[in-house]
Amino acid sequence: MRFGPSVIFSCLAGLSVAAQSYDEDACSQIHSRVANPGNDNPLVTFPGQLALRCLRSMPFESKLAVSFVKEYRKYLQFHSTLETLKNPPSGYQMPPTDLMGGLNAIQEKAAANHYKNQYEFDSDLQTLVTSAYDGHLSADFCSHSIFTFRNEPPLVSISTNGIDLPKIYTTEDARLLSSHPHKVSPVQSINGVDVVKHMKRISIYQKPQDLDALYNTLFHSNAMSIGSTGNSSMFAGYYSSTTRWPGGSQILRFANGSKTDSETIVHLREFPWQNTTALYENFCVANKDSSSSQSGSEAHPLPLPDGYPEPFVRDNFNRIMGFFPEHSGLKDIAVLSVPSFQVQGATSDGKLPDTEIVDFSNTARDFLANATDKGKKKMIVDLSGNPGGSVLAGDNLFRMFFPDKVPYSAGRFRAHDAVNLLGKVASPIVQRPDSILKGFPPFDWTSMVQPDQKKGFKSWKDLYSPRNISGVESSSLFATNFSRVSEHEVPINGYGNVMLNPSKAAFEPEDIIMITDGYCASTCTVFAELMKEQGVRTIAFGGRPQFAPMQGLGGTKGAQVLQFSQIASILPMAKSLAKQTLNKEEYKKWERVVPIPLKDFPLTLYSGGVNLLSAFSSKNDKVPRQFVYEAAECRRFFTAENIDKPVSIWSAAADSMFHGGPCVPFSTNGTGSLHPEEKSTNEKLISLFLEFLSGFKAHIV
Ligand SMILES: *[C@@H]1O[C@H](CO)[C@@H](O)[C@H](O)[C@H]1NC(C)=O
Ligand SMILES: *[C@@H]1O[C@H](CO)[C@@H](O)[C@H](O)[C@H]1NC(C)=O
Ligand SMILES: *[C@@H]1O[C@H](CO)[C@@H](O)[C@H](O)[C@H]1NC(C)=O
Ligand SMILES: *[C@@H]1O[C@H](CO)[C@@H](O)[C@H](O)[C@H]1NC(C)=O
Ligand SMILES: *[C@@H]1O[C@H](CO)[C@@H](O)[C@H](O)[C@H]1NC(C)=O
Ligand SMILES: *[C@@H]1O[C@H](CO)[C@@H](O)[C@H](O)[C@H]1NC(C)=O
Ligand SMILES: *[C@@H]1O[C@H](CO)[C@@H](O)[C@H](O)[C@H]1NC(C)=O
Repeated sequence: MRFGPSVIFSCLAGLSVAAQSYDEDACSQIHSRVANPGNDNPLVTFPGQLALRCLRSMPFESKLAVSFVKEYRKYLQFHSTLETLKNPPSGYQMPPTDLMGGLNAIQEKAAANHYKNQYEFDSDLQTLVTSAYDGHLSADFCSHSIFTFRNEPPLVSISTNGIDLPKIYTTEDARLLSSHPHKVSPVQSINGVDVVKHMKRISIYQKPQDLDALYNTLFHSNAMSIGSTGNSSMFAGYYSSTTRWPGGSQILRFANGSKTDSETIVHLREFPWQNTTALYENFCVANKDSSSSQSGSEAHPLPLPDGYPEPFVRDNFNRIMGFFPEHSGLKDIAVLSVPSFQVQGATSDGKLPDTEIVDFSNTARDFLANATDKGKKKMIVDLSGNPGGSVLAGDNLFRMFFPDKVPYSAGRFRAHDAVNLLGKVASPIVQRPDSILKGFPPFDWTSMVQPDQKKGFKSWKDLYSPRNISGVESSSLFATNFSRVSEHEVPINGYGNVMLNPSKAAFEPEDIIMITDGYCASTCTVFAELMKEQGVRTIAFGGRPQFAPMQGLGGTKGAQVLQFSQIASILPMAKSLAKQTLNKEEYKKWERVVPIPLKDFPLTLYSGGVNLLSAFSSKNDKVPRQFVYEAAECRRFFTAENIDKPVSIWSAAADSMFHGGPCVPFSTNGTGSLHPEEKSTNEKLISLFLEFLSGFKAHIV
């Protein structure tokens, strides 16, 4: 540590604003740097520390913050697992959390004016929301929506052969591993902490509910990039790109003794605020109509992502791609890659323009028909990086594989006064043939049926119920009426007026496998669970370096997200109806418990959502799937080749799953897999010992 003027000098030199004083408003400095990029590149880079100072210079207004928490709470009560999270069943991987209790604590701290700035307040809220490990529970708190912190270089976790324990390399080094193995060496520590320990520690700020899936999200991944953007190479991993402050620099020490020290940086194109006050007033306090900002740009067809072989069929946005690879390990095997169930141009209520969903559906249908035609014997469904999307698209894809099976779907929402009052008020509207709330979950009870699709509900009250399910006041168990939606929204093979085609399963369940990288969320899990129920096996890639099973479905297993903007969109109409139809007592309650539109929030909340529906399996209608541990049937680690060549992942999976090749030791027959086996203590000890040995080996070579 050095003290004195030299520190200030070097700090200023680092910022290259030598003439300015240290106390200059950091936000102003960012403004002038971004306004004067210096060269032709409009993307300005500056130290993360400067961004942090800007965030910390924001004011904190206790009154606004307290009423913000009060309004946020009204939305949060729609989250289906509030009670379950407090006391989760065994098998759930993550620690318990009390979201409402946490919110109360934040409110008290805000009321006592104990926050130094808006950023500190938002950070507490963000940490609380993250503690649910549910990708459907989200909120863009204002000061957390300004900067993304970058740590170069991006990292990957690589095994020599997919079976030995992986080590962490820079992505660039990993690409050199096969040609120049002696030129590169793995990362051993970051900022003095063992690299694996460090990565495990920072992984817990991400969304998946599984520790291996969390670990994978830190690393560069083309699959995650394609899944969320349709493009490859855009996702460097959350180690490298995070909205949570990662510290001012990262010192990487390598096994060969060398080290690098890289400063946390921020890239920005625009920063219109001249100073902290302007930023705070305009970005955090001004009322924003968030619905207007959602009118996305026109969707342009995307090129085939890098590294993929020529597909046989593909939709325009890389959500679904069919391959008949030439690779020798993939003879007789067809590969359907489904990086996403999201459709470009989807409206905020999750409904999809007809053409796109039909395109998705036809691509799957054509591919399956051609696969049979070409005499393919086996099928790989690659779900790596799939963040979900349209649930009905998932149901439909399942019906392409198994046309004679009913896609079992069963959800419950959390029962509380606000949802009940909204449902009551909406009830006369949803019964009209031209209802603008058609299919709107959970209010359109006329579109809901029992999970067997045979019986509907008589009224809102019939659907709302509520009943005590494992300590959660819950609605009845229900599904969407597939015949109805198939006619009006999304075609589902053989439902409504959609002809059953294919009408016969092209592959036996044992001849189909699914690949995931743990990051399979929402609709991806809905689809995968349906496939699993037929006996389709899963192989999971990556995760923490240990000889143990890994879950394939590590993202949220909630059945339906509810965006705050969706609730907000019906509030004006609902409120005027409430005034007319509710009695005095009820209307008073309405005013107390029903959320207000986001644009009326005391502090800006750009967007947010909750998990509206917990999903249940046909065997257990009490414990939400989100909390059930399900090991994949097999696990492999990523190799260097896997980084850029998905074909190498497919052939590794085919090797393990179809050709008797190896899985990671002790990764098969795990809890919740298709053939679970009670492990003896002996085996656990051997597994620990092997792990110890390979860790030991890593240190002596
Ligand atoms: C040590 O490993 C690092 C990381 O792979 C590499 O960049 C560096 O060139 C290596 N140094 C030597 C002397 O081999
Ligand atoms: C994908 O990449 C192309 C070209 O590299 C770019 O024009 C496009 O904006 C990217 N799409 C998305 C969704 O980021
Ligand atoms: C901050 O910037 C705004 C314009 O964006 C300006 O009106 C205001 O005077 C500035 N405040 C200070 C303290 O410089
Ligand atoms: C094969 O796919 C093409 C589209 O690529 C489609 O036109 C054709 O009908 C499919 N073949 C079969 C047998 O379905
Ligand atoms: C589902 O919807 C179809 C078409 O709208 C309707 O005919 C059928 O009765 C509904 N099913 C149930 C169980 O309500
Ligand atoms: C709900 O059921 C749980 C057991 O599943 C029980 O412990 C709890 O007391 C019940 N709550 C109410 C309000 O009945
Ligand atoms: C382990 O799982 C495989 C299938 O994945 C199954 O064939 C085998 O019987 C299982 N072993 C045990 C001991 O349960």
